[in-house]
Amino acid sequence: MRIDIVTLFPELCDSFLSASILGRARAKNLFEAHCHQIRDYTKNKQKQTDDYPYGGGCGMVLYAQPIADCLRAVQAQCAAQGRARPHVVFLTAAGRPYNEEKARELAGYDAVTLVCGHYEGIDQRVIDAFGDEEISIGDYVLTGGELASLVVADSVLRLQPGVLAEEKGYQDESYWDGLLEYPQFTRPEVWEGRAVPPVLLTGDHKKIDEWRGAQSRERTRERRPDLYDAWCESHPLTELPKW
Ligand code: ADE
Repeated sequence: MRIDIVTLFPELCDSFLSASILGRARAKNLFEAHCHQIRDYTKNKQKQTDDYPYGGGCGMVLYAQPIADCLRAVQAQCAAQGRARPHVVFLTAAGRPYNEEKARELAGYDAVTLVCGHYEGIDQRVIDAFGDEEISIGDYVLTGGELASLVVADSVLRLQPGVLAEEKGYQDESYWDGLLEYPQFTRPEVWEGRAVPPVLLTGDHKKIDEWRGAQSRERTRERRPDLYDAWCESHPLTELPKW
């Protein structure tokens, strides 16, 4: 898979994608990532990337032209590699909410391009002309789309084959089957007077799996009743613990 990020802060995005698990996977060519500077595609002397909004109001709006030219350059690079046209996502606070289901959908594309807004927003015409969708990572406003694009890139790239050491790694985690993850513990057995739940020390994996399942359901019911109701509907035969 190839991911491109179109941004005013390519170094920031690139350093995230070069660190830790993703950095190691990128070095092994398990995916390809490229971060592009919008300013490099401006056509004015001052290399200005934004301007005042038509109709007035505060803040600045990113020009359509440099973003469009950058996206055309990314499309040409993908075509030269024999890839399909990339799926183009604009990160904006006004987008549709992001979740694990969307991460899995994006992970199925051969190429995804993430476009980061800044300041007050992006000229809607370039979104309409090039965007396949607009995504928001949550009900809060960020100063720019960089963190949002990295959230999307991280959650999509970890699903690529080989990125996580064990295939099972991501299946156990929150949202894989619509439940929150059970609590985890490591050494020592007692830390500052708090003991690890005894069942985890028994070596009885059937019992441990049952305990973890019950913890997942209980946490989800308490913290995310919306997810819990949806999960119950899709698991009508599961015997639920009696609280
Ligand atoms: N840009 C500003 N806020 C955002 C959000 N919540 N999600 C995605 N992009 C954004």
